Order: sequence, then C-alpha cells, then structure tokens
Amino acid sequence: MSDKTLLLSDDDGVLTVTVNRPNALNALNEQVLTELRTLLEGPLPSTGGAIRGVILTGAGERAFVAGADIKEMSVMTPDEGEAFGALGQRVTRLLEELPVPVIACVSGYALGGGCELAMAADFIYATGSAVFGQPEVSLGLIPGFGGCARLHHRVGPGWARELIYTGRKIDAAEARRIGLVNRVFDTREEMLDSAAATLAEIATRSPVAVALSKSAIDGSIGRPVTDALAIEKAAFRRTFATGDMREGTAAFLAKRPPSFPGH
Ligand code: HXC
Repeated sequence: MSDKTLLLSDDDGVLTVTVNRPNALNALNEQVLTELRTLLEGPLPSTGGAIRGVILTGAGERAFVAGADIKEMSVMTPDEGEAFGALGQRVTRLLEELPVPVIACVSGYALGGGCELAMAADFIYATGSAVFGQPEVSLGLIPGFGGCARLHHRVGPGWARELIYTGRKIDAAEARRIGLVNRVFDTREEMLDSAAATLAEIATRSPVAVALSKSAIDGSIGRPVTDALAIEKAAFRRTFATGDMREGTAAFLAKRPPSFPGH
C-alpha cells in the first residue's frame, strides 16, 4: 500500500477523520475503505482522554468524497464488485454502530459513495459549496454503499427516487431544504468549529444515554412503530441500571450540574 489515505487528529475528545486523496477528489478506493474499516473496528485512537465524538470530513475545499473510485470499479468482475460494495457497506455500518456521535462535515462534492458515507454519520453539516448526489445510474451502477437503503430514511422515498433515478446533483441549500443536511455554513472553518461545539455540548450529557439513544434510533429506522417502541423500552430500562441515570436525576434534584460517571 502507498501512503495512508486518512488523516487523524484529536482535540478535547473529538476525533477528526479526514479522507485524504485530493488528487482523486478523495474518491473511496479499496485502500481508503480498508483503512476506514481498520480504524472503526478498533478502539478509536486518542492522544488524551476518551473520544466522545467524531468529525468525518474530506481534505481540501473541492470535495468531501467524489464517490467510490470509478477507475478501480471499471475493471471489477461481479464478485469483485460485490466484495467492494460489501466493504463500503461494512464501513458505513461501523460508523452507525459507533457508540459516540458522528458528524459528517461536507465541503464540495459528496457524490455517490461520498453521499453514502456522509449519510452513515448521525447528521450532516455542510458549507455553501457542498454538492450532493447519487450519480451512479449515469455510470451504469446503482448506489452500493447504502444509498438505496438509507437515502429514503433521510429525505423520504419521493426525493430518494428522484435523486437516484436522475443522478441529479443538488446544492447545499436544497440538501438542507429536503432534510439531508442539518446546517449550512459560510466557511469550512465555521462548519468544523460548529461541529466540534455540537459534539462538546453532547459530551456534557450522559455518555451512556447518548449511546443508548443512538442505538435505539438506529435500531428503529425502517421498523414498524410497535417494534421500534419495544427497542426503545429495552434501552430505557437499561438506563435505570446506570450510574449516569442516578447521577443525572440526583443532580437535578440537588439543583447542581451533573458529573456523569459514564457507566
Ligand atoms: C476516481 C475520480 C472520481 C471518482 C473524481 N476523480 N471523481 N477518480 N473516482 N469517483 C478524479 C478525476 O478522474 C480527476 O483525476 C480528478 O479526480 C479531478 O476530477 P475532475 O473530473 O478533473 O474535476 P472536475 O472537472 O472539477 O469535476 C468534478 C466532478 C467529477 C464533477 C466531481 O470529477 C465527477 O463527476 N466525478 C465522478 C463523480 C461520480 O460519478 N461519483 C459516483 C461514483 S460511483 P485526473 O487524474 O484526471 O486529474 C459510486 C458508487 C458507490 O460512488 C457504490 C459502489 C459499490
């Protein structure tokens, strides 16, 4: 393998993961995906205390990730294509299963596998330069890293179908209007600062409760409401066995800020 394609840095409990292949607009080749899988399968690296949140972004202003690597895919057999799709799906699932929140910060292109990677984050922030789309059908492909499975949960089936069948690209304002993006910023710096501030705010809450609510939401998506309520009930029950719940409620009653033990 050549040089690493991920840049990692952590500050105050926030791990920033930057996809760094600027010559290919950060396209996801097998190397990037393998490095992401290895990173997400292990304990999140930290130079200080525990990681309480992740920012996922792309190097430079031109692209978050311009898709899966078209050059690599162009010569794949069906078996190789399936394995490549499975690798991308595994990475997106690992992101969803992290017990800490993940914010995708998008400047420039988030196309195809890039849009799919962003959608595996808990939510998406963008700059005004962001461009989203699922252009796979223009290449004779379909979304394969979870676009068919996830986009309709973000924006509803009507928008998901229109975006996937046309391959049309949309700007940040439209992505925000249809619910794909939570917030739009003027500059990349403002976006990254705001994502760090949101993660810092979440880090003041009970880490166990945040992780349980993340997995309850994840487990509920696409399920009938009765199944989703059963998942919520089981997670709610688990909070009563945590030090965080005892501390949070005691702190409220004592009119003092909580100091969560994190278990
Ligand atoms: C490989 C890519 C790439 C990609 C860009 N590049 N996107 N290489 N895979 N997805 C490379 C270009 O070949 C070029 O390399 C360099 O990055 C700069 O790109 P340009 O095209 O010269 O830039 P520009 O004219 O500004 O156009 C930007 C762009 C265009 C509109 C984003 O690059 C583009 O349409 N890219 C493909 C977008 C796409 O279709 N994504 C979906 C892929 S399918 P050189 O060496 O020429 O400088 C997918 C499937 C997911 O994601 C599921 C798989 C299972």
